Amino acid sequence: MSKILFDSLQKYKNLKRSSFHTPGHKGKAIKNADFFSLDYTELPFTDSLYEASGIIKQAEENLAELYGSKRSIFSCGGNTLCMQAMIRLCSPNGGKILCDRVAHRAAVSAFALLGIDAVWLEREIDMNTGLAKRISAEDVEKNLKGDSEIKAVYITSPDYYGILQDIKSISEVCKKHDVPLIVDNAHGSHLKFLGMNLHPLEQGATMSADSAHKTLPVLTGGAWLHINDEKFCSEAKNAMAIFGSTSPSYSVMVSMDVCADWLAKRGEEEYKNLADSVAEARKIAGSSGIYIPDESISDPCRITLGVWKIGLTGEEFRDFLYKFKIEPEFCDENYAILIPSPFNTQIDWIRLKTALKKAKQIAKKERKIKILLPKLPEKSMDIRSASMSPKKSVEVQNACGKVAAEIACPCPPGVPIVMPGEVIGKDEIDALTNYGVFKINVVE
Ligand SMILES: Cc1ncc(COP(=O)(O)O)c(C=O)c1O
Repeated sequence: MSKILFDSLQKYKNLKRSSFHTPGHKGKAIKNADFFSLDYTELPFTDSLYEASGIIKQAEENLAELYGSKRSIFSCGGNTLCMQAMIRLCSPNGGKILCDRVAHRAAVSAFALLGIDAVWLEREIDMNTGLAKRISAEDVEKNLKGDSEIKAVYITSPDYYGILQDIKSISEVCKKHDVPLIVDNAHGSHLKFLGMNLHPLEQGATMSADSAHKTLPVLTGGAWLHINDEKFCSEAKNAMAIFGSTSPSYSVMVSMDVCADWLAKRGEEEYKNLADSVAEARKIAGSSGIYIPDESISDPCRITLGVWKIGLTGEEFRDFLYKFKIEPEFCDENYAILIPSPFNTQIDWIRLKTALKKAKQIAKKERKIKILLPKLPEKSMDIRSASMSPKKSVEVQNACGKVAAEIACPCPPGVPIVMPGEVIGKDEIDALTNYGVFKINVVE
């Protein structure tokens, strides 16, 4: 036997690739915190996450002050736990949630566990860019008017491609109908520090789930639930505790506390500088012919490269980036996605800019955009019943007409193509196989 994981990761680390992927700390701690020696358990002095009354409570209060929320809570179970808690708070006993179809699988699993049915807000696909268009506040309002049983509106913003939703307009509609707006802000914890009021709470969201480890210097698994409505504050810890481990990692909590302190002192300067570097990289990419999504609705810190425009697939572009020792976050047929942070070094940026300049040398004729998300499939069962049904695994190619018993999605981006209870058709089969998903559990 060997310590295979440790040895393999060590070997991978020795490749010394520039990390343009999560986590945001890029392998560099922001303080010389020895996370092993601070990995405690619940002792009289160390407090307890779900019954916080001492040092954890104080650390969370500091976080709430930083984000301007009524209450902010640490999660060591990633954004997944924050999302489960948000959903539970809005709809503790089943019911309906009006939900962005670009929903992470964690939200759909929470719907299955809590017996919630989703009313989907379908995203139209822009045929010129392959990206999901923004949800309109009018569409949200139309749904809210037509269904008084909807308990919350659930939006993903920004999405994996960095597209920001119009949270301000959507939140106005939600307020008018007295329905909470909950936002999966997994990719946008840093938005608070750009001086542009881009964070969901600044735009009027009721709650925001922030996956701190993605873009901030926090250990993987660290995330924040921010609440801006008094009525959800007192139950919030219980809602987290229902799904969370009774042994949350103190190392992860310490990294979040140290990060919050660093953000308070340096956040604005660091993330504004990062946005400048991203703008420069986008400009170089654009001059090499790569498509850059509309910057006026994009996260200023995300690098989304539409390499279809230079005749490449995202995967082909990944191989090109490897020549410059760059590891991107995620690549699909049309795009390569890079997640930088203030912890990228000068060498990382030099490598990236060189690669983006040289991209014009490998540019070919524009590729036809591959449309990856199919239209809404027909629904035959609710999410919970399908998820809990006896199931069998079939080849995706042979699944036509069968009912999905699980979420079928590639991860990343973790956005389901077929939801439990939906009928798998030809378009879904094409989308799944395009993404490299070849087996699926269906209802027996
Ligand atoms: C949009 C979105 N929401 C939620 C999550 C889940 O976050 P976590 O991995 O922190 O649990 C992810 C993870 O990739 C994500 O991309």
